[in-house]
Amino acid sequence: MKILDIFGTLKKDIDYVEQRLYSSIDVDQKLLSETSLHLLKAGGKRLRPVFVLLGGKFGHYDLERLLHVAVPLELIHSASLVHDDVIDDASTRRGKATVKSKWDNKIAMYTGDYIYAKALTLVSKLENPMIHRILSKALVQMSIGEMEQIRDFFNTDQSIRNYLLRIRRKTALLIAVSCQLGAVAAEAPLEISRLLYRYGYNVGMAFQIRDDLLDLKGTEKQLGKPPGSDMRQGNITLPVLYALQDPALREELLQELANIHAKDGSADTSRAIQMILGSDGIQKAEQLADRYIEKALAALHHLKDNKAKKHLQEIAYFVNRRAY
Ligand code: IPE
Ligand code: IPE
Ligand code: MG
Ligand code: MG
Repeated sequence: MKILDIFGTLKKDIDYVEQRLYSSIDVDQKLLSETSLHLLKAGGKRLRPVFVLLGGKFGHYDLERLLHVAVPLELIHSASLVHDDVIDDASTRRGKATVKSKWDNKIAMYTGDYIYAKALTLVSKLENPMIHRILSKALVQMSIGEMEQIRDFFNTDQSIRNYLLRIRRKTALLIAVSCQLGAVAAEAPLEISRLLYRYGYNVGMAFQIRDDLLDLKGTEKQLGKPPGSDMRQGNITLPVLYALQDPALREELLQELANIHAKDGSADTSRAIQMILGSDGIQKAEQLADRYIEKALAALHHLKDNKAKKHLQEIAYFVNRRAY
């Protein structure tokens, strides 16, 4: 199911986004054309462009203008995934081979760079400097977030705060600015774009917490990649941190994580997953995701009632029960 199946009114416009995504990375270099289209063709929820379009509904909705933000945001997301799969040494994404596994890390590095560059080409057509400021700031933070993820691999002593800061940077800020920039590009009042940012930030936090939960609870079919990938690569996520706080579990789980670390990416994580699923780490992480969703919905309270607001509410609910 695509997120858009929740509502149909934006279908036509998102189809334009889809077409423009493909045409925007068209290039007269056979290998680059293949590698950069590869992830795009594998699908994805296209959540960030949907947020841009919905943000645009709070101002003067001009599709052509919004496409110059919506398409770059999905491209930036795609580029970050191509790079992320190198960092996480991931062989599958969206049920397909990753660029790094189908080709190699070097190819993935330049594919990601190329997709980023095309995103900038497109957005540079807009003259509002505020858009560029907001976007570049978010990109800097994303790089810091991914770097922190590398730094914190297999660090079982990190705090919950540390985890939250990391996911804020690597995931939530891009979602926040997707909502904000739709409104900014549509010249909505500043106050509205700020509320949309707050909504997006909180949805984004819940989104990554849910993503981390899914990595433990989901099936390979749902995830498009094997479960337990985070732990196998050393990404210590919220449910794991909560489980480690349980004195009855801590020592055994630490030992299991050390065993996984020693296997260097090829470990069987099923025992560790069972331990975490049996702890209260899952429920605690779900509760925190719920709290972020509540905050996201609260930010929407201040906005006037319209269809876009209703869709944003629906997406918040969707994020909190998503299974893929
Ligand atoms: C995946 O994002 C990376 C995270 C921020 C968790 P999405 O779940 O939006 O990925 P696609 O685009 O739908 O594949
Ligand atoms: C999100 O983190 C990746 C980015 C924000 C680039 P994950 O590493 O959890 O994303 P998936 O699970 O690989 O999609
Ligand atoms: Mg990853
Ligand atoms: Mg993940």
